[in-house]
Order: sequence, then structure tokens, then C-alpha cells
Amino acid sequence: MSLKENIDPNKMPKHIAIIMDGNGRWAKGKGKFRIFGHETGVSTVKSITEAAAEIGVKYLTLYAFSTENWNRPPLEVRALMELLVNTMRKELPTLMKNNIRLSFIGNKKDLPTSCQKQLEATMEETKNNTRMDLVLALSYSAKWDLVQAIQKIAADTLSGKIKQEDINDHLIDSYLSTHWMPHPELMIRTSGEKRISNFLLWEIAYSELYFTDKLWPDFTKEDLFHAIYDYQNRERRFGKTSEQLNS
Ligand code: FPP
Repeated sequence: MSLKENIDPNKMPKHIAIIMDGNGRWAKGKGKFRIFGHETGVSTVKSITEAAAEIGVKYLTLYAFSTENWNRPPLEVRALMELLVNTMRKELPTLMKNNIRLSFIGNKKDLPTSCQKQLEATMEETKNNTRMDLVLALSYSAKWDLVQAIQKIAADTLSGKIKQEDINDHLIDSYLSTHWMPHPELMIRTSGEKRISNFLLWEIAYSELYFTDKLWPDFTKEDLFHAIYDYQNRERRFGKTSEQLNS
């Protein structure tokens, strides 16, 4: 029996964020080049996107390339960018068929022109799709996003558009590149590492964190259902006591 049957549709996380880690180690374990791990990781992206949409997740954010990933060997960076462009091109019909909108967070201007163009074209083509947002975090880091938000807040304060006393957590939210989506209730990281690696630091203030030893290419739909089931069985107290929640 699939764990899917045990998932409560009334307690679905609206937004799941995933740190897809372990492609390199997966490939190395098979005596292959790292890029083979990334290529296989794309198949996992497909199956997890499909599973998330099927089960009723509304936003799925995938950490596909961090600001820090620019420091990888140039050959790997180039191969990853090509893989992203080719995947977006190839998977457009699947996104359309499944009514999924492609969205993006990150520093677009640092991406190669071909990647920017493909991203813009795919976002334009899928903009009226409504079942789920598949959000690619590309050339993204939470600190980059906070810095650009703070710069804009400072400029708007100096110009008089906002007053210093208007600055609160809702206003900060509205300047982040994630302003248009709810904060993730659940963040998953594969590959056994237990860190956040500069991903959505502000937005995960109250997210449930789920770590699995599975490497990303081995992560299955059933593993996603397990993470969601685990999430649904946690008590989210938001600073309150258990008694307050149950009264
Ligand atoms: C982390 O594994 C993975 C990445 C930095 C890239 C993930 C990208 C993909 C799966 C392709 C995404 C494609 C689309 C269309 C979203 P790692 O290389 O850090 O693995 P390691 O920790 O074992 O070295």
C-alpha cells in the first residue's frame, strides 16, 4: 500500500521547499561523472513534481543552483546550465499537460543569456496554469535576497515612499523575491546533510524540517509521501503550549 493513502488532504502543506542534494555522490558511487548524477536528478525532479501536483501541493520550490554553486568547476557549471535549459525546453509540454506554472526566484541577470531566455519563455508559456507553481531557485541565496530587499527598503525610506516605522515583518516579506507565495510549511533536504545552505532563511522561520539520507537521484514519490506524512504528524505550536493548542 502506498503511504499516499494515509495522507490527510485537509492537512496538506501548501508549499514544500526542497534542497536536492547528493547528485555528485550518487554518480561517484557508480563510477560516473558528476553530471550523470545531475542528469538522473532531473528524472527525480519530474517524478517529485508530478507527485506534488497529484497530491495537492500548490507551491514546490526546488533549490536548483545556489549563488555559491557559481564557485564549482566551470565545466560543471556549464553542464548544469545546459541541463536546465534543455530540461525546460523538453518539459514544456508536460508542464502544460499537467497545468503547472513555472516560476523563478534568484538573481536572473547572473544566468547565461540562453538560460534567462528559456526561463522567460517557459514562464510566459505557462503563466496561466493554475494547478501548482514549480518554483526554480536559480542563482539564489537567502542572503542575496535579503540584501536586495534591504537595499530597496533603504531607498524607499530615503525617498519617503515608506516611513521607518512602517518597517515590520510583513513589509520585509513584501520586498523579498518570494513575496507572492506563502512561506513553506515543510522543507526537505536529501543526502544526509543537516544544514540549510542559505536557502529561504527568512521564510523557514516556522517551517518543519525533514532530512533524509537518500541521495536526490534515489528520492522517490513514496519518499515524498513519507515526508508529508511525517510533517502531518508533528505538532506545530508556533510558540504556544500543547495545552493551548488542544483546548
Ligand atoms: C546538488 O547535488 C545538486 C545540485 C547543485 C543541482 C541540482 C540540479 C538538478 C537536479 C537539475 C535540476 C533541473 C531542473 C530542471 C530543476 P550535489 O552536486 O551537491 O551533490 P553532492 O553533494 O553529492 O556533490
